[in-house]
Amino acid sequence: MKFPYPSTMMLVLLLAFLCFESLPHVMAQSSSNKEAKALDAILQQYAYKALANPKTGTVYNATQLPSNLTGVKVAALRLRSGSLRRKGFDMYNEFEIPNGLIVSPYVERLVFVYQNLGKLSNKYYPLPNYTYLAPVLGLLAYDAANLSATNLSELDVNASGDNILVKFQDVKSVPHGTVAKCVWFDLQGSSNFSNVKGGNTCSTSQQGHFSIVVKSNGAPGPVSPTPHNHGKGEKKSSKKVWIIVGSVVGGLLLLVLLSFLVLCINKYKQKKKMQGMERAADSGETLQMASVGETKAPAATVTRTQPTLEHEYAP
Ligand SMILES: *[C@@H]1O[C@H](CO)[C@@H](O)[C@H](O)[C@H]1NC(C)=O
Ligand SMILES: *[C@@H]1O[C@H](CO)[C@@H](O)[C@H](O)[C@H]1NC(C)=O
Ligand SMILES: *[C@@H]1O[C@H](CO)[C@@H](O)[C@H](O)[C@H]1NC(C)=O
Ligand SMILES: *[C@@H]1O[C@H](CO)[C@@H](O)[C@H](O)[C@H]1NC(C)=O
Ligand SMILES: *[C@@H]1O[C@H](CO)[C@@H](O)[C@H](O)[C@H]1NC(C)=O
Ligand SMILES: *[C@@H]1O[C@H](CO)[C@@H](O)[C@H](O)[C@H]1NC(C)=O
Ligand SMILES: *[C@@H]1O[C@H](CO)[C@@H](O)[C@H](O)[C@H]1NC(C)=O
Repeated sequence: MKFPYPSTMMLVLLLAFLCFESLPHVMAQSSSNKEAKALDAILQQYAYKALANPKTGTVYNATQLPSNLTGVKVAALRLRSGSLRRKGFDMYNEFEIPNGLIVSPYVERLVFVYQNLGKLSNKYYPLPNYTYLAPVLGLLAYDAANLSATNLSELDVNASGDNILVKFQDVKSVPHGTVAKCVWFDLQGSSNFSNVKGGNTCSTSQQGHFSIVVKSNGAPGPVSPTPHNHGKGEKKSSKKVWIIVGSVVGGLLLLVLLSFLVLCINKYKQKKKMQGMERAADSGETLQMASVGETKAPAATVTRTQPTLEHEYAP
């Protein structure tokens, strides 16, 4: 019963290894929202820095973003929430903010942080099987009470009347045979799709991140030459998942087969041993170790006492 353990151990180790191997992949998928949230926090800081002695109702662009955020645009707009509710704000870059927005919890003033993620859209908001026709734009509301505050959480914003409109500039042309869709990422990172109006406008009752996308064609002929290799990566990783699943199932099957083999061998040995002992008993010989095979049963000189048989069944 000794010999199967090394191979069983190896299988267990193999399974454990495969589990660990698949872990980073799973984590990478769920971490994309974490990265996006971390980016929101960084951009909030840069936006607030632009608000030194701010005039209410004036848009301030953030400057001096770090080099790893080149191409990202950030701005800040401070408003009184009463004025926001009564008048809205006509055109904050691409955003047309109507009256009737309700901000909760109540704050006297709030800051709308504007984000344009440019080339980093795909990195922070990966959308498998879709191609971005416009950069991801963000609109997030924070309390303006302390302009040095960091790590703020967003206020709730809800349109009680008209929706906020996002009028994208320079939308890439829609590839033939596809339909452009608005995509909205809420603060938890969930995406939701809606129809594009007037070729470039999306509508929303809440804050978050927005863009215009088309389904990318799975066929080799790429729909657009834009930097978008996400589909490919997704396919590769799904292949990897199948390899892992296959290995695990295969490993389990092997384990079952091995167990059967072990059982058979044991049965066979037992039978042999019994036969050997019976023979020995019949001939009155002393039993030799060798006659029992590799099993190191205390080869009995005693006759019919069937040495350590129960013990052999213990796993
Ligand atoms: C701020 O940036 C926007 C583009 O994001 C630009 O249109 C605007 O002119 C800039 N404003 C200032 C004051 O630089
Ligand atoms: C950008 O680089 C800085 C260091 O220069 C680093 O602290 C920060 O995490 C990086 N940000 C992103 C979004 O990669
Ligand atoms: C992407 O498309 C492929 C094939 O068209 C499909 O198998 C896969 O499930 C899709 N992925 C997502 C996340 O929808
Ligand atoms: C504003 O926030 C900063 C950073 O969190 C903190 O150090 C400072 O005490 C706060 N000021 C007020 C008036 O709360
Ligand atoms: C930011 O705030 C969250 C809770 O709102 C907290 O879990 C996290 O540790 C904070 N991060 C930093 C860098 O202060
Ligand atoms: C937003 O307001 C509408 C009514 O004005 C309400 O039905 C809806 O539940 C609110 N949504 C949220 C997320 O607060
Ligand atoms: C997401 O979109 C679907 C229709 O596309 C809609 O029924 C649903 O209410 C939306 N979810 C949210 C949270 O807006």
